[in-house]
Amino acid sequence: MTIAVYPGSFDPFTKGHMDIVERGAGIFDEIVVGVLMNSSKQPFFELDERVSLIQEACKGIKNVRVEKFSGLLVNYMDQIGASIILKGLRAVADYEYELSMAQMNKCLNSKVETMFLMSNSNFSHVSSSMIKDIVSLGGDVSDFLPENINKILINRINGRI
Ligand code: PNS
Repeated sequence: MTIAVYPGSFDPFTKGHMDIVERGAGIFDEIVVGVLMNSSKQPFFELDERVSLIQEACKGIKNVRVEKFSGLLVNYMDQIGASIILKGLRAVADYEYELSMAQMNKCLNSKVETMFLMSNSNFSHVSSSMIKDIVSLGGDVSDFLPENINKILINRINGRI
């Protein structure tokens, strides 16, 4: 049973993230989407809300669960019996950051492997921070977000929730 953790802030979770989860679910026995607690970034969605929105977006995929975690990723992986860190790689710009993180995680726990899926070309330009920027300026991001997450965003912008 190979459990892979797909870690991130996911603020918000995009169709690019969804694509990695879907493809990862076809490779590994179980994907755990690990939503990071204690992020230094000012969140757009609170942690518990992020978890439930991602759960809703992924409900059609049987071998996916969504959890929040805090502290070191490798410690969290030990707790849940995961051996693989799953990441998406969008462009060369991601590479340096991801390489050093993969190497550091390997130093912290030699049993952990980081595996990368190249992002779908439809989403290689999509990032959560860009989405937040566009939304805050009144732009349409419906092409880049799962339907439930886009709906919440629109409601929030219109002051309904
Ligand atoms: O979506 P993000 O913010 O780019 O994700 C970053 C994340 C969550 C993958 C990274 O910050 C992380 O793994 N944090 C947990 C703390 C940790 O283990 N740090 C050492 C990593 S080398």
